[in-house]
Amino acid sequence: MTEADKNPKVNFPKHVAIIMDGNGRWATERGLERKDGHRAGAESIRPVIQRLGDHGVPVVTLFGFSTENWGRPQFEVDAIFRLSGHFIDQYLDELHNSEVRLQHLGQIDALPDWLVNKVEAAVEKTRPNSGMILNLAFNYGARAEIVHAVREVVERNIPTAEITESLFESFLQTTDLPPVDLLIRTGNSRRISNFLLWQVAYAEIYFSKLYWPDFGAEDVDNVLAEYAQTQRTFGLVPETMISSTEAR
Ligand code: FPP
Repeated sequence: MTEADKNPKVNFPKHVAIIMDGNGRWATERGLERKDGHRAGAESIRPVIQRLGDHGVPVVTLFGFSTENWGRPQFEVDAIFRLSGHFIDQYLDELHNSEVRLQHLGQIDALPDWLVNKVEAAVEKTRPNSGMILNLAFNYGARAEIVHAVREVVERNIPTAEITESLFESFLQTTDLPPVDLLIRTGNSRRISNFLLWQVAYAEIYFSKLYWPDFGAEDVDNVLAEYAQTQRTFGLVPETMISSTEAR
């Protein structure tokens, strides 16, 4: 039984997206190489996902590699790819046994063939699962996703009067997922970095000063406790804030 089942009145996010920032600085401050930071970062993923699952969060999206990350030195890009492949090798069975369904967000074709094969095999194997959806955003950029959706709309000659928010959304890769309720960014930077720009429109955003390798299960508890206290208004005024005199 998840925390969400035990406490039906508590507000739990349906979709948590995470920008796992700070691996490089974590390594540099320890006199290590950046790739060691990414290795430590990859190790941080399991306990965080597990705790989000314990709380009953049904969808989690991790920003593993952005379209802009290709500009990093080739050896760092290669290290991130290797670690991601290793992550799948190491945890696929466990994720599968926990009913987690892996999905990929982004342009998969530009990745090395061996990684494409691994990701596609993991997505295929876990497709029937009914538990948490874990999206790996890998070679993902929100602007590219939006431009792709625009092209689809134009290519289908859809009349302008029919172009609504929900129609546009149907051309995004996240079409079957709930919008992001909570975006967590570690690494002490306050940026969105071209991540899920459409989907975070009304997300609560939590910036953590911790580097990603230092972010753990207890930090998940704290963020979710803070989220549970937040009154989300979606641009409206809550009933309790409207004074009786003003309403007259
Ligand atoms: C950002 O830290 C981190 C990345 C660009 C890579 C994250 C990749 C992993 C944790 C590997 C495994 C990933 C998955 C999804 C299985 P940074 O390098 O920008 O840190 P800095 O800002 O301190 O330099």
